[in-house]
Amino acid sequence: MVIIENISETTEFLKNQIKNGKSIGFVPTMGALHQGHIALVEKAKLENDIVVCSIFVNPTQFNNPEDLKKYPRTLEEDCKMLQAAGCDLVFAPSAEEMYEETPVLRMDFGYLEQILEGKFRPGHFNGVGIVVSKLFNIVKPTKAYFGQKDLQQVAVVKRLVKDLSFDLELIVCDTIRENDGLAMSSRNRRLGSSAREVAPKIFESLLIGQKYLFEGLNVEETKQKVVEWYENSPEFTLEYYEIVEADTLNPIEKKPEGQKTAIVIAAFLDGVRLIDNIVF
Ligand code: PAF
Repeated sequence: MVIIENISETTEFLKNQIKNGKSIGFVPTMGALHQGHIALVEKAKLENDIVVCSIFVNPTQFNNPEDLKKYPRTLEEDCKMLQAAGCDLVFAPSAEEMYEETPVLRMDFGYLEQILEGKFRPGHFNGVGIVVSKLFNIVKPTKAYFGQKDLQQVAVVKRLVKDLSFDLELIVCDTIRENDGLAMSSRNRRLGSSAREVAPKIFESLLIGQKYLFEGLNVEETKQKVVEWYENSPEFTLEYYEIVEADTLNPIEKKPEGQKTAIVIAAFLDGVRLIDNIVF
């Protein structure tokens, strides 16, 4: 496995692979890797000749400077995990390498920008859109792998690929969970031990919502009951709990027949912002 920090060396390495007819599977990450990322790398390995993983804590997608500062950085450990998973190239640029100058471009994803993560993290998807476009241009992947845990990011990147005609296939992979149901996330390592113990309640609240919907409650009734449930769990500060159409993220009033529904949540626990969702 090679580790490259430089854009031109990365493009040179990959240009040769592409010239030799190799397909490239790409897993973009911000590092602090866990089994969820490794599952993406393993899938990419099965489906491509070469696997590239980027590790870059992208400053332009953080609307909260404290969150950026506290984001875990574990490059050495990450590279060991990637090597064991069969990754071929790690692209780990510095912020100066990625942004010689602050981009003047602004990406606006319309409705997707105004709801859920977009509403609570203004500018976040502009940052994601720009960095993912840059990474796609540098790596030129055949297939790019994203986790369903970031459901709205998946919707944004799908739109980006469509609108900018990126010649690649997006592969969306299931959320990987700990044994107690907590969705794997780089942020989990910032939870103190008592917070970690109650953290699976987030997933539990998604399953409770699903149960209410299946029992025939409408969206408002379901949300109200779950919000009340959270009132008895003061360790959580709920940012949003929404029930939406899974592909468009449009609001719904009732669980539609024959259409996929998503329940999405963002909550603070122990000062750490966690997100999760289920699609059914
Ligand atoms: O999901 C992430 O880790 C990031 O948003 C991504 C896609 C690597 C862009 O910085």
